[in-house]
Order: sequence, then C-alpha cells, then structure tokens
Amino acid sequence: MIEVRVKPGVEEKIRGFFSWVYNAEILEIKGEPKPGDFVKVLDSKKKFLGYGYINPNTKIAVRLLSFEKGEEISKELIKRRILSALEYRKKLNINSNAYRLVHSEGDLLPGLIVDMYDQYAVIEITTYGMFKMKDWVLEALVEILKPKGVYQKVSDYAMNIEGFDEEERILYGTVPERIKIWEGDLEFYVDVIKGQKTGFYLDQRRARKMIRDLVKPGDVCLDAFCHTGGFALSMIKKGAKSVIAVDMSERALSLGKENAKLNGLEGIQWVEDNAFHFLRKLYREGYKFDVIVIDPPSFARTKAHVENALRGYKELCVTGLKLAKAGGYFAIYSCSFHITREHLLEVILQASRDVKKPLRIVGESFQDLDHPWILQMPNTLYLKGIYLEVLR
Ligand SMILES: C[S@@+](CC[C@H](N)C(=O)[O-])C[C@H]1O[C@@H](n2cnc3c(N)ncnc32)[C@H](O)[C@@H]1O
Repeated sequence: MIEVRVKPGVEEKIRGFFSWVYNAEILEIKGEPKPGDFVKVLDSKKKFLGYGYINPNTKIAVRLLSFEKGEEISKELIKRRILSALEYRKKLNINSNAYRLVHSEGDLLPGLIVDMYDQYAVIEITTYGMFKMKDWVLEALVEILKPKGVYQKVSDYAMNIEGFDEEERILYGTVPERIKIWEGDLEFYVDVIKGQKTGFYLDQRRARKMIRDLVKPGDVCLDAFCHTGGFALSMIKKGAKSVIAVDMSERALSLGKENAKLNGLEGIQWVEDNAFHFLRKLYREGYKFDVIVIDPPSFARTKAHVENALRGYKELCVTGLKLAKAGGYFAIYSCSFHITREHLLEVILQASRDVKKPLRIVGESFQDLDHPWILQMPNTLYLKGIYLEVLR
C-alpha cells in the first residue's frame, strides 16, 4: 500500500482524530498515488497514524477512515461504518421518517452523504476516493436498509475540485418524483430528483421546533428564503395568523404550496422574489412582524467569500430588524462553515447599532444531531442559528 509520511508536528493533530492531511503537510510519499488510492499514513518517524484515501491533485490530500492499526479500508469497513451510523441515528429517536444517515467526516466516511426519505436513500459523493468505493457503499446500503430505491445526486463544485464525473440518476430500485415524509405533526413532499440538496433541509429540524416555540397564536410572521416551507408551515401549525414566505425558486415555492395543502393549512402567502429586494419592499410598505426567520443559502463556500457574505448578512439583519415589532423575535442562520457563530453575532451587533434596537439572545441552534459535529473536526459544524428578542 502507498505510504504517506507527514511532516513533524502534524501527527499530533491526527493522533487527536483530525481526519485530514493537507498537501502541504506531506513529507514524503512512497509509491505513485493516483486519485482515490488507499494509503497508510505515518508520522515523520514512520509510526502508524491511520488509513485513508488520497487525491494528489487537491489541497486536502488525504482523508482518513480509520485510526486503528490493522483496520484497513475494505468493503467490510464501509459496511461497519454505515451500520454504526445507523445505530447512532436509532439512539436519537428522531421524530420523523426522514433523516441523515451518513454525514461524511462526521461518520468517518469522508466524501459520503446519505439521506433517508422514508424507504428511499439519496446519496451524494463529494470526493474521488469515495467515488471509487461507490459500489461498496451501494451494496452495503441495499443490504442494511433494504430500500425501495437509491438515488444519486451530484455536486458539480465537488466534482470539479476532485476531478471525477458522475450523473444524477437512480442507482437501485425505483424512486418516485415525489416522496412523502413526516416530521412531527407535519407532512412534506420531497422532490429528491429535481429539488435542492438531496431534497429537504433535514439539518433545520431542530430549528423548526425552536421557531415553533417562539410563535404565539395570532402572530404575523415572515419566512425569508423559505424553500418548500419548513418554517412557514411550522409557524402556521402553531397558530400564526399569517406568514409571508419568500424564495426565488419557483419550483420550491410550488412544492411549498402543495405542502400547505397536504397539511390542510391556510394563511401562507408565497412570494417568488429576491429576498434582499423583497424585504426592503416590505419595509417601505410599512410591514411589521412578530417572528422573522432568515435562512439564506451558503454565501461563503470558501474563505475568500467571507467578506462579501458578511455584507449580505449585514443587509439582511438591518432590514430584518427594521421589520420586527417591539417584543418580536428574529432568527438568522448561516449554513457555511466559514461564517462562524462569532461572525454572525458581530454582524447582528453592528446591525442593531444601525437600527438602534436592543436585542436579547433567546436561543441558539446548530445542525440537528443526525448531522454529527465532531469536536476534533471543526469543519463538521456548518449550520448555526441565533434567536433574538427585539426589545423595542
Ligand atoms: C438554506 S435554504 C432555506 C431552507 C428552508 N428555510 C427550509 O427550512 O427548508 C436557502 C433557500 O434560499 C433560496 N434563495 C437563494 N438565493 C435567494 C435570494 N436571493 N432570494 C430568495 N431566495 C433565495 C433558495 O432557493 C433556497 O430555497
């Protein structure tokens, strides 16, 4: 097997279960690795550190799947990892038939996402190494879960960086155009084939519950970047009088409307628009809301985008806070690892000074627990939410 020796000092991180080796941290490679080859990682004194796969063409050169001597990468290891991911999800007692089964590094399966929607699995592969193990993954999923179908989504961004080529398609069984799932007392249609991500924002399950706790019967609410209505439906279900839900995706909104019908809920006004413009328009027209949710897409895929992203956040916070009633609530989320909780707090603070509104933090949320956040791998925490009471 190809051996990768890391520079002195790097071993400390890896012995502490950090599962990436950057290209710049490599001292020597024994062998001529091709993308996706399995490697043994050694420290500078040739002591064992772990097993992983390599992509010599990317900044993150090696991703580890095991820190145990003798536990080499094999079909059996992949199956064991998926089984233990499933065991963990069972312990969570998730109040839904839709959940994330595999969360990449969070389950020691770097480059693999698996979401379960009822009896269907949706997978997304983001690294060359995992791409080469796709048949093992599929076999294990079919054996363990006996799904009715497995669908593959792709990320052009990841494929460009890693240098592999795949297509979105059914890998096993059949997959309907729409899958009906339930979460708590709500039902949703999920469009895994043409929808965003794998079809539904499973990571906001906990946030939907927290927002529901803030809404009082009769409230007037705003759901900005609403997608298929996860927050909007939760608000109406709690007794909100009305919700304005805005998104620029016509497809997401039309599924949102059907989701409202499916649950027999009325009172949501669905608006197709750019949320930045639309929020300013609402302010000009004198609207005020009791509860405001702002859940934008990732504005910062890389560090280089952080500054621009923060400008976007600032604008959303300023306009959002202006739209809040005194005593109302305002929640904002970031789903980019690069926009930290501290960034968010700083931007909210700046906005509160601009609009002269004191704020009380009433809650915080992260991605729900089926998207594990591994302490040793900081980048496994990507989704953060801050909940504020607007005091005047
Ligand atoms: C993180 S998702 C929101 C998820 C949603 N809150 C949920 O729980 O299902 C971001 C959404 O923003 C939408 N979007 C992206 N840019 C937008 C813009 N400038 N204005 C309005 N919507 C936008 C996308 O279509 C997507 O549905």
